[in-house]
Amino acid sequence: MAELTDRIALVTGAASGIGRATAIRFAAAGATVVLADRNGEALASALAELGDPRHFSFRLDVTDEEGWADLAAAIDIAFGRLDVLVNNAGYGAFRSIADTTLEEWRAITAVNLDSVFLGTRTMLPLLEKSHFGGSIINMSSIRGIAAAPFAGSYCAAKGGVRLFTKAAALECAALGNGVRVNSIHPGHVLTPLTAKVHDDPAQGAKLLADTPMGRAGDPDEIAAAMLFLAGDGSRYMTGSELVVDGGSTAQ
Ligand SMILES: NC(=O)c1ccc[n+]([C@@H]2O[C@H](COP(=O)([O-])OP(=O)(O)OC[C@H]3O[C@@H](n4cnc5c(N)ncnc54)[C@H](O)[C@@H]3O)[C@@H](O)[C@H]2O)c1
Repeated sequence: MAELTDRIALVTGAASGIGRATAIRFAAAGATVVLADRNGEALASALAELGDPRHFSFRLDVTDEEGWADLAAAIDIAFGRLDVLVNNAGYGAFRSIADTTLEEWRAITAVNLDSVFLGTRTMLPLLEKSHFGGSIINMSSIRGIAAAPFAGSYCAAKGGVRLFTKAAALECAALGNGVRVNSIHPGHVLTPLTAKVHDDPAQGAKLLADTPMGRAGDPDEIAAAMLFLAGDGSRYMTGSELVVDGGSTAQ
């Protein structure tokens, strides 16, 4: 039996990059996948790529509290429960602190951190109904562990995701609701989000030089770690941080 057979998995930011690769991996592992993203066109193409009518997509801005409530209602009607939640949607900005407006700070922390709180709070009642034991996977970054210059708002948000994950894991364990909560911390992964870095050869070369394995990660290599955190192989893991970074944070 495939690892996620009969499971219902929700992936945010599923239209592109790591989220899309995760949706494909989960579907191949037998899950029914709900793909959520704010980009309707890319979402339709990702759903078509899965090529099976058991999956469905939902247009969601992860910073929108009402949108989350609507999605929870749709999942409740369709399945009555949720087994896996991947809070993946997000992006960063390279900007000095001096040049960061309060509006931009709020936008970055909203999409990367508020979204994780909203997703967790809204979906927890459905995850508690999972007969597999619910699994929440929160997208942090190596920038949630080790900081970088000119990325203050992103580092703050991803660091917040890391510790919120641990708080949520402890709370779920204390409640005895069977829900595990872990964070994932990719290093440099080649996706539409990061591809433009390589337009500047010097910046691209520096990123690779900072990666001991000497290459960028592939989205599917993060999706493989997502699959591990989603399934029974990680059933004794909660409050953990899984680093997938080609050795970057080992230095
Ligand atoms: N690529 C990397 O090197 C890397 C490294 C560490 C962490 N991450 C994190 O991984 C996650 C995915 O990044 P990616 O590289 O796959 O990026 P990507 O741009 O390829 O995909 C991100 C997806 O999120 C969606 N999205 C953005 N804002 C949204 C919103 N408000 N509501 C709903 N959907 C929204 C986009 O439409 C897009 O489809 C992000 O949280 C990112 O910070 C990426």
